[in-house]
Amino acid sequence: MTRAAVIGCGDISALHFAAIEAMPDVELVAVCDTDPGRLEAATAAHGVAGFDDHQRMIEAEHPDVVHVTTPHAEHAAIAIDALRAGVDVLLEKPLAHSRGAGARVVDAAAESGARLGVCFQNRYNTPVVAAKQLLESGALGPVLGANATVMWHRDAAYYADRPWRGRWRSAGGGLLMNQAIHTVDLLQWLVGDVERVRGGAATRVLGEVIEVEDTADIVLDHVGGAQSTFFGTLNNPVNAPVTVDVVTEGAVLSLRGALTVTYTDGRVETVEEDASASGPRAYWGASHERLIRDFYGGIGSGEPFWIDGREAQKTLDIIQTVYDASFPARPTND
Ligand SMILES: NC(=O)c1ccc[n+]([C@@H]2O[C@H](COP(=O)([O-])OP(=O)(O)OC[C@H]3O[C@@H](n4cnc5c(N)ncnc54)[C@H](O)[C@@H]3O)[C@@H](O)[C@H]2O)c1
Repeated sequence: MTRAAVIGCGDISALHFAAIEAMPDVELVAVCDTDPGRLEAATAAHGVAGFDDHQRMIEAEHPDVVHVTTPHAEHAAIAIDALRAGVDVLLEKPLAHSRGAGARVVDAAAESGARLGVCFQNRYNTPVVAAKQLLESGALGPVLGANATVMWHRDAAYYADRPWRGRWRSAGGGLLMNQAIHTVDLLQWLVGDVERVRGGAATRVLGEVIEVEDTADIVLDHVGGAQSTFFGTLNNPVNAPVTVDVVTEGAVLSLRGALTVTYTDGRVETVEEDASASGPRAYWGASHERLIRDFYGGIGSGEPFWIDGREAQKTLDIIQTVYDASFPARPTND
């Protein structure tokens, strides 16, 4: 049995607990949360030992894997402690709250040899996988460019519920670090590595409530000449479907939940998301369990997980470059 523990028992931990429970050869051995109420609820729900300090948990329970599902500013320190103890780490996005902290996690993973994975689960969405395969097949010709939007709604109550999400020191950013990071990651993964970032971020509506941005626009120049654009805001009245369009010489690939491929000869093909993508939080993507299973599947192989620290650093770097332009004096809590 692989021994797993979860550090940070808030909203997203539910998906991690569910994935752990769905794997017969993985056993949840402990939970950790600094909030006494959350800790008590998690120990009661899962019937395992509870700790308010991750180091003491690691020393006492010797988990093989820890899932880090805490606020952003806690990611790096906890991941580094676990990696140094030889524990594999599955880290929620982002890699870290700042560039410097992200680099420290990457270094710790390289030094320890333990497995590090970062939850960019949207890469496992069925239509996204199909888009990636089509692009890599070369059948559609070179990629000319792409565009993406995240038009979601987050109001004052969302931040009042979890004040860390609105602050530079605890979240390291807003729309881009918390919500749109998945979509920026898809752009750089689908279209290719980025060599130049131009963009801006601003707090357009929620400035009396939050420090971090609620709106951003970005232009990415990819190695090889393709260019992609991104626009996102948390001031839309609803959580609209994320859009990603990739334009190649032979087709336009449109991701709107489903993938629609419109070929230049007029043919149209559609790849639907699996039924598991439905539900009230379908806009998160439904692929956490697929990513988590994949991470565990490679434990002991000696191979790095394909979405490791260096891979997650690419998207963190894009976002931090936008912040450097728009919020050069932000506190980074480094
Ligand atoms: N992959 C996704 O689609 C997705 C979706 C939502 C959230 N997330 C990520 O999950 C993480 C958590 O987000 P959330 O919305 O669940 O937040 P949350 O506030 O609901 O939960 C965080 C929990 O961590 C606990 N915590 C804080 N510091 C801690 C520490 N040092 N040690 C142990 N526990 C600590 C808090 O008490 C809280 O219970 C963030 O990184 C967020 O970006 C990812």
